[in-house]
Amino acid sequence: MTTKEDIDKNKIPTHIAVIMDGNGRWAKQKGKERVVGHQHGVKAVREVTEAAAEVGVKYLTLFAFSTENWQRPSDEVNALMSLLVSTLNSEIKTLMENNIVLKTIGNLDIMPAQVRKNLMKTVRETLHNKGMTLILALSYSARWEIAGAARELADDVKEGKVGLDEIDETLFSEYLQTRNIPDPDILIRTSGEYRVSNFLLWQIAYTELYFTKKLWPDIRKEDLYDAIIDYQSRERRFGLLSEQTKLDVDR
Ligand code: FPP
Repeated sequence: MTTKEDIDKNKIPTHIAVIMDGNGRWAKQKGKERVVGHQHGVKAVREVTEAAAEVGVKYLTLFAFSTENWQRPSDEVNALMSLLVSTLNSEIKTLMENNIVLKTIGNLDIMPAQVRKNLMKTVRETLHNKGMTLILALSYSARWEIAGAARELADDVKEGKVGLDEIDETLFSEYLQTRNIPDPDILIRTSGEYRVSNFLLWQIAYTELYFTKKLWPDIRKEDLYDAIIDYQSRERRFGLLSEQTKLDVDR
């Protein structure tokens, strides 16, 4: 079994993003309601967060609820919202003990007031922590984010705050929800689906993709170690030649 010690401490990814998938199928396989899969998914959230913080990852982004997820049956949506609130309440102590900063990306305006209140409270309480940043993507979709950024930028151009010729990739990034957060180095998706499902589309331009067949509720620390070790074996060229990237490292 993979252990923490198998990881090269000098090549820890700065930012890991995760599409947590397979809760429903996990429950179905066990003849249980889908919500049971989500409940067990919380354990995987805890394991992955703890493992990431322990090995020195600086940012961990979890896709917890997509814009599209609002269309699920209301029972399931309500159960997910309650689970979020109960998890925030039960985990705040652990977040503080582990020095974790909680942030959110997504359209919080359409979250139920109680959920929004709890989220904002936890974000406030963890604001001054100095360890890993845990980013929950909630009511999030990348196209929503990009359209919103374009709208805000257009508004700033209209008001004369930004000149048309100033618009470049760096400036545009500052209008995204992820401003000040580096792009993910690795994107993990569980459950054997090979899609990016409207998640961080702008930010994953050069991200390494890692897929595992395991369903999210079965994910444990060792699975994160496996993903990191796989990432460490990749050669990231960012569109350059292999020789050029090696020169870069040698400099
Ligand atoms: C995808 O599985 C998972 C979700 C839509 C929700 C993820 C939520 C959790 C892991 C629990 C709560 C999270 C936090 C941060 C407290 P799916 O339902 O799409 O599974 P399926 O594809 O097998 O149907």
